[in-house]
Amino acid sequence: MINRRDFLEQGAMGAAGLLLASKTGLASTAGSRLADSRIEVLFDEPLGTVSPNIYGHFVENLSGVLYDGIWVGENSPVANIAGLRKSLIEHMRKIKAPVIRFPGGCFADSYDWRDGIGAAEKRPRRTNFWAMGESEKAPASHRYDPNAVGTNEFVHFCKLIGAEPYLAANVRSLPASAFQQWVEYCNSPAGSTTLADARAAAGYPDPFRVKYWGVGNESWGCGGEFTPQEYAAEFRRYSTWLPTYGDNLSLIASGPNTDEWSWTREFLEEVLRKGPGELRRIYGIALHHYAWNLSRGKTQEWVAGKGDALKFDAVDWYELLREGDRMEGLVTGHWQVLAEFDHQHRVKLVVDEWGPWYRPGSEATPGDQLEQMPTLRDAVFSGMTLDIFNRHPEKVAMANCAQLINCLNSLYLAHEDKFVITPVGHLFELYASHQGGRALRTVFSSPNVHYDRDGQSASFWGLRGSASVRDKNLTITAVNPNTSESRLAEISLRGAAVKEASMHFLSNADIHAHNTFEQRDVVVPQTKPLSLSEGFLVAEFPPASVAALTLQLN
Ligand code: AHR
Repeated sequence: MINRRDFLEQGAMGAAGLLLASKTGLASTAGSRLADSRIEVLFDEPLGTVSPNIYGHFVENLSGVLYDGIWVGENSPVANIAGLRKSLIEHMRKIKAPVIRFPGGCFADSYDWRDGIGAAEKRPRRTNFWAMGESEKAPASHRYDPNAVGTNEFVHFCKLIGAEPYLAANVRSLPASAFQQWVEYCNSPAGSTTLADARAAAGYPDPFRVKYWGVGNESWGCGGEFTPQEYAAEFRRYSTWLPTYGDNLSLIASGPNTDEWSWTREFLEEVLRKGPGELRRIYGIALHHYAWNLSRGKTQEWVAGKGDALKFDAVDWYELLREGDRMEGLVTGHWQVLAEFDHQHRVKLVVDEWGPWYRPGSEATPGDQLEQMPTLRDAVFSGMTLDIFNRHPEKVAMANCAQLINCLNSLYLAHEDKFVITPVGHLFELYASHQGGRALRTVFSSPNVHYDRDGQSASFWGLRGSASVRDKNLTITAVNPNTSESRLAEISLRGAAVKEASMHFLSNADIHAHNTFEQRDVVVPQTKPLSLSEGFLVAEFPPASVAALTLQLN
């Protein structure tokens, strides 16, 4: 039996519409249909500020992610800015990408940042962590890292987008001094150190001021097979005397896999063995959760339990959402464990890997390891996940979708001069206006969906989402998971009135709909104005949809 840990060790509305509401608040379409659902936004119950970083991304040096996906090279015929794919940069600006994690993932604990600085032609080639899982036809750069993209190029990529870099340090195979020197290379003032001079010689005299640093990755597995106690000791050591150069660093500790509560608890117990002051070292604890098991309880086996990205039935649609919906319990559960140690709630959750993970076979570029074809299902899944984070703004400080391009829950697929925005990419555009907003408690009431699960009746919630307000702009996002029925929801705002409203949504009559290099616009945002009748709003959420309602308030 193989689980994820073993696997990694081996390296290897079409009909959306506006419906007018009557004075009583009951909606009808020309008198034919009553609202079946209700969304109540409670302006007097703010939950906290939605950290923009919840809308973060993850880029690992893994197969086609970096080389081909992001980096095309300065001399490439593909449009680029200093070697970085231009179309990607342009769309990431549009979605206001706030933070990007790099260089891994498992790759991070095998990476020596010193290989990726200095003159490009002198940089060494190294065996990539993922090399042994690459197909024979894979480009050499996927197996043997040319180090063309190092710290300078990655930070430049972030700056071009307007995102913060989040670097993951190697705890498994480099000493703590290498981590300290990476911080020094990035952040020491111009002219101050030999490493600052090396940075300046590469064209970057000003410090990068990298704030977010991961101390290892999945230290329970590919990041060193540590026990929580062993990792806690390493964390203390790696985080002791890191130079700050006037800016506080936000250190993220390697956290649990899904519901491994014991990792969170035992790690904190051990860190705090030296005293309560040790908590100050930790900005966040990383939580990873992938929705992968579509076996409907038949197996826990990592390979056999996976489903297909493209070939699936309605039951697989619901099962994937069910697996992803576990995120809410993971956030509240790990938060409770944190609360046992951190009464002031200073330490936050950083969900720095999340998304669906299918079996191989749907790659847009055959041979790209861990690449899969995102469909409408994955956009709906992603909307549901971001809504969960929005509902817990005091707990989740950052989240990073795994991964940005050519891997797992990609926002983009690219190969040579081909580039396409996936339904997940469009979803991030739809949700961008939540960033930095004040989250409001919002009550969704809707009939559950019922479906057949191997001869047994199973159910899933009928409509859920989140709401946030910025100045006079309210954003309500919602998922209708029902594959065959639309939901008609009456929207009531407790404590505010609406001036104008519109609805943007992703949906398709085919739940498998996806965008390819050849057909790029199969799943794209559609827009409908929403009109008001005497202060009431009613919106129809098509089957299998995710929507963003933008309401301008009086
Ligand atoms: O995202 C792919 C891999 O999944 C990452 O390298 C690792 O951290 C996780 O197990």
